[in-house]
Amino acid sequence: MSRILFMVLAGAALCTGQALADTLRISVIGAGNVGGTLGTQWVKAGHSVMFSSRHPEQLAALVKTAGPNAQAGSVSDAAAWGDVIVLSVPYGAMPALSEQLKGKLDGKVVLSTSNPFSGRDGETGRKALAQGVALADEHYLPGVHLVRAFNAIGYASMRDQAHKNVAIPTFADDAQAREMGARLVRDAGFIPVLIPLARANEGLPGGPLSGARSEAELRQKLGL
Ligand SMILES: NC(=O)c1ccc[n+]([C@@H]2O[C@H](COP(=O)([O-])OP(=O)(O)OC[C@H]3O[C@@H](n4cnc5c(N)ncnc54)[C@H](OP(=O)(O)O)[C@@H]3O)[C@@H](O)[C@H]2O)c1
Repeated sequence: MSRILFMVLAGAALCTGQALADTLRISVIGAGNVGGTLGTQWVKAGHSVMFSSRHPEQLAALVKTAGPNAQAGSVSDAAAWGDVIVLSVPYGAMPALSEQLKGKLDGKVVLSTSNPFSGRDGETGRKALAQGVALADEHYLPGVHLVRAFNAIGYASMRDQAHKNVAIPTFADDAQAREMGARLVRDAGFIPVLIPLARANEGLPGGPLSGARSEAELRQKLGL
C-alpha cells in the first residue's frame, strides 16, 4: 500500500472513531425559537437531538428541518433519553417543570437558556432576578450540573453568527458542567468563555455581558 493511501485510510478511521466518540444525545426541553435553533445546529454537528415541549405532536416540521438525527418526544421522554438536557422555556414554566422533573435529572448536565423577566414571568421571574438566576435554577433543579449559556444573544444570531468567532458567556462551576457546557457551545458554532455561576445575572438580556462579541472583547469586559 502506498504511504499516501495508508495515510488517507488512517485519517478516515480516526475521523470515524472521533465522530462516534463525540456523538451526544441532547434533549431539548422547550423547542421554540431558541431550543429549535440550537437543536438544529447540534444535529448538523453530528449529535442526536430529541425536541420536547408540552405539545410534541406540533414539532414534526422542526424535526424534519433538523434532519434524520432529530426526533420529538414528551418532556418525560426527553428527561430520560438525553445525555445532556437543554432547557429553553419561559421562566414562568420553572415551578411546573420542577415538579414534573423531580428526581429525573439527577447527575445530568442541564444547560439553561431560560431567562426570568419580571413582566412575562410574574412573581417567578421577580424572585429569580432578586435571588440570582443561577440560585433560582438550582432551587428548581436540585441535583443537576448547571450551565447557563446563550442567554443574551438573539435566536436569529445563534443561527446567523455561528462559526464567525463569536464568544458566548458560559456560566458553570463544577468540572462536568464546565466541560459539557463548553462542548455544547463549541458544537453550536461559538467560542465558550467560562465564568462562575455567581456572575450569571450579568449574562441576562440587557446585562453587561449581553450581545454578540469576540472572545477578546468578552474577556476584557469580564476583566479576565
Ligand atoms: N428568543 C430569543 O432570542 C432568546 C435568546 C436568549 C434566551 N432566550 C430565553 O430562552 C427561553 C426560550 O425562549 P424562546 O424565544 O425560544 O421561547 P419560545 O419560542 O416561546 O419557546 C418556548 C418553548 O417552551 C415550551 N414550553 C413552555 N412551557 C413549557 C413547559 N411547562 N414544559 C415544557 N415546555 C414548555 C413551548 O412549547 P409548548 O408551549 O408547546 O409547551 C416552546 O417550545 C426564554 O426563557 C427566553 O427568555 C430567548
